[in-house]
Amino acid sequence: MNKSDLSLLLKEHNQEHLLSYYDKLSQDDKDNLAAQIEKVDWKLIYCIHKNISKNSVIYEPLEGMSIEQIKSNKDIYYDIGIKTIQTGKVAAVVLAGGQGTRLGCEIPKGMVNIGLTKDVFIFELIFKNIIDTAKAADTWIPLYIMTSKKNNEQTISFLNEHDFFGYPNDFITFYIQDMTPSVDYAGKLLMEAPDQLSLSPNGNGGWFSSMVKANILDDLHNSKIEWINVFSVDNVLQKIADPYFVGATIATNHLSGAKVVRKSNPDERVGVLCLEDGKPSIVEYYEMTDEILNERKDNGELSYAFGVTLNYLFRLDKLEDIMKYDLPIHVVEKKIPYLTVDDKYIEPKEPNGYKFEELVLDMVHLFDNCLPFEVIREKEFAPIKNATGVDSISTAQQLLMKNGYDI
Ligand code: UTP
Repeated sequence: MNKSDLSLLLKEHNQEHLLSYYDKLSQDDKDNLAAQIEKVDWKLIYCIHKNISKNSVIYEPLEGMSIEQIKSNKDIYYDIGIKTIQTGKVAAVVLAGGQGTRLGCEIPKGMVNIGLTKDVFIFELIFKNIIDTAKAADTWIPLYIMTSKKNNEQTISFLNEHDFFGYPNDFITFYIQDMTPSVDYAGKLLMEAPDQLSLSPNGNGGWFSSMVKANILDDLHNSKIEWINVFSVDNVLQKIADPYFVGATIATNHLSGAKVVRKSNPDERVGVLCLEDGKPSIVEYYEMTDEILNERKDNGELSYAFGVTLNYLFRLDKLEDIMKYDLPIHVVEKKIPYLTVDDKYIEPKEPNGYKFEELVLDMVHLFDNCLPFEVIREKEFAPIKNATGVDSISTAQQLLMKNGYDI
């Protein structure tokens, strides 16, 4: 697109400021900026003005598979799960494209060293956990690592330097997620350089579509993968491709499963797995009504008891089916560094605009069913989200030590 076409397009969307530096740019930089502008999905930007409240929706509790129920069938589940893994039908995807803004780390989160007496990297623990399953199954599990344009190179060179913490390279595939633009509170697209829009990873919900774009689907089919275990990079205690979880999901004829923990109190800030209009759904803590927060069963337990841990199992054929649906866009307030039209680079201390994200939790609602599979919180849930306080490095360190990890 040349300058006059760009001007017309930007005028239509009230974004002419993006050409503030255009005349001073080299031809390559002009082309680069034009290519980014052409790719903008304009409907995203109008999302910030939309009210996406879901008033007419009916929520109901969804019974989970409790720890006691899992125990009483544990041999059956383990047997089914381990065989499914041994026959090469399970792949794992680690979501490592996030920016870890709450933790405030300058490096990809997986590279953060959380050791107390020696180096122990977050990635190292993730690899340790998948190696535990691989050893039990006596087979390597294909591992896909989703990064973003912002952290891909750094992640790959870090993992290379550490020999993938003992995981064979042949079983690891990297792919890069898509990026989306950011806007200020008035909906104006932000720039990070004269020829660059401010772009950020499009949320963890894009993990499967980005996999498909990266031509990984053929790989999955050729390897006869049937199930994908997708999980966050920052829960250092989670079991990966857990045979019990895989077996229980298959044995109970579910198309998807979610590892969940029992809420510690009604107000815990965790999304809960329930039914929304009869289909599985995750309600975020900020969307919960009083009823969802506090309703109790006759035995006194919370009706909406199970919080998600961002560790899901999805059947691949169903993932392919649901690709035809768009996931909802979440408009998230963030601190976004930007370049002003008069050439000042601002690094805000407070949120100053919005990013647009799709979330993996919304995929669950596109499945006909989902098994809430309860895990023991102290043994499997040590997420690292914040610099201090709850779900921080120090809470994860304590839990790792309680579980006998040498850190
Ligand atoms: P979070 O939502 O906790 O985001 O991601 P984050 O980037 O780690 O941290 P904040 O919100 O900026 O503080 C949960 C998981 O999803 C991945 C993260 O890397 C983490 O494993 N993720 C998140 C992506 O892979 N891509 C994204 O665009 C966002």
